[in-house]
Amino acid sequence: MARVFSGMRPTGRLHIGHLLGALEKWVELQREHECFFSIVDWHALTTGYKDTSEMKKNISEMAIDWLSVGIDFEKSTVFLQSQVKEHAELHLLLSMIIPMAWLERNPTLKSMLQDMHITTVNYGLMGYPVLQTADILMYKGEKVPVGEDQVPHLEMSREIVRSFNRMYKPVFPEPEAILTQTPRLLGIDGKKMSKSLDNCIYISDDQDIIKKKVQMLVTDPQKIRKNDPGRPEICSVFEYHKIFNLGETDQIAADCRAGRLGCVADKNHLAEIIDRRLKPYREKRKEYAEKTGLIQDMLNEGSRRAQKIAAKTMSDVRDAMGLF
Ligand code: TRP
Repeated sequence: MARVFSGMRPTGRLHIGHLLGALEKWVELQREHECFFSIVDWHALTTGYKDTSEMKKNISEMAIDWLSVGIDFEKSTVFLQSQVKEHAELHLLLSMIIPMAWLERNPTLKSMLQDMHITTVNYGLMGYPVLQTADILMYKGEKVPVGEDQVPHLEMSREIVRSFNRMYKPVFPEPEAILTQTPRLLGIDGKKMSKSLDNCIYISDDQDIIKKKVQMLVTDPQKIRKNDPGRPEICSVFEYHKIFNLGETDQIAADCRAGRLGCVADKNHLAEIIDRRLKPYREKRKEYAEKTGLIQDMLNEGSRRAQKIAAKTMSDVRDAMGLF
């Protein structure tokens, strides 16, 4: 049994990439480990500070998605980062010991700037990995399920831990990444699935919407008529089959190549498979949607539990650093 910590920025409703890449892994980890899952709203502010009008809604939507896929708010500690002010204190203290050069080299920051078309790097954004380290260390996290893009951040966390432990007292374990293989899911336009491109299939999408979106997936442009032979290797629908429909992929590829399977039928079949996978989540979602009061209460309770541990950690930290 290990301490597991992970966080997600509140971007609103989650898409199936989040489900397959992170949430299903979290649900599994929850069975055997002591887990902390945080909605990291301060991290969202590092880039989304200008327009905060959707922040509260995005936090509730994300909490509802977590609940509906089976994140257990009783068993795990699920909380809102900004409700545990200790994260800010630890972030500040850690910022004293991290060399600027580490932050300047951060490859994850470089790709974030590109992806989000950011031109000025603010102080807060620069410190993104320091805040992330504070999140993990606050609960003495040992295992951190993250996508591959976060590995440089985790490496920095480990270096910060080594520096801190050497300089003051050995307070923190070195956190280790658990790599969640994020399948490279393409959006319905064939580009990387992302909310800002508006090309996502959401966990909460209903049957009709799934059907419509799947019909838009890009197939082999040379396969025009149903009986034309197709090339699964360049077809988005086939990419999805490989992820969602493990048992039938060989047959589907063979039927497509031989011109026995048309794209419309193939898409209908895929839409059914995705719908079947998401349906239980959607039903569970119904229990929580509209009950924003309940969601708030659950997050308050999680934050209260997190805060107790955070207060203890901060007292260890201040003690190690010789502070009052
Ligand atoms: N940076 C992470 C991401 O974008 C989110 C995050 C914040 C996080 N704090 C964390 C992940 C702590 C793991 C542990 O995916």
